[in-house]
Amino acid sequence: MKILTVLGSPKRNGNTAKVLDMLENELVAIGHEIERVSVVDYKINGCVGCNVCIKEKDEPNCVQQDDAKKIFNKVMLADLIIYATPVYAHSFPAQMKTLIDRHYCFVTDAGSPSQSSVVEGKRVSLLITNCYNEETTDLIRESFDRIFTELKCNISGKIVVAESASLDFLERAEGVVKNMAKAIIQSK
Ligand SMILES: Cc1cc2nc3c(=O)[nH]c(=O)nc-3n(C[C@H](O)[C@H](O)[C@H](O)COP(=O)(O)O)c2cc1C
Repeated sequence: MKILTVLGSPKRNGNTAKVLDMLENELVAIGHEIERVSVVDYKINGCVGCNVCIKEKDEPNCVQQDDAKKIFNKVMLADLIIYATPVYAHSFPAQMKTLIDRHYCFVTDAGSPSQSSVVEGKRVSLLITNCYNEETTDLIRESFDRIFTELKCNISGKIVVAESASLDFLERAEGVVKNMAKAIIQSK
């Protein structure tokens, strides 16, 4: 399977990157092809809400000529996209949120009964790290569910490695990541 991982942390080598490294290694070991993008390496402007994109059915059609298109091209080619993010203020960090807002251009006729999505059926997963307990990630998990359900994606796996300041963080991450890798393989 061709897997795109999207690192949404502003830190290239932070907690989320370390857990994502583990997950990628696990997936490569069982034969998957991985490409990672770090959102901080791309210049992505905020969505301007012009709604031009919602008329184009066949491709992500954003009027902005920035790096978001490079990521969209990779998304279109991937079998599975794993969004890896820390929690900032109970949500996505601004860099990741900016990219996610721009996913709006995947949808045509948003909000109407004829709404369609160029990423319909695409598999997506979520990997979260945060410093409080797992229960406090409810808002970001719910946002992810709603956003990718609207995009008609197939949500296959969500994991949280909580309490990132604790000494056993990376040890716990090892176990969680192995389970996620298995879940990704088994889900269709
Ligand atoms: C600005 C900021 C806001 C944060 N907000 C939350 C939060 O609302 N809930 C939480 O559990 N952790 C919060 N955290 C902690 C991070 O989610 C946690 O340390 C995470 O593992 C950092 O991952 P990173 O090193 O990849 O950035 C916040 C951290 C920062 C810097």
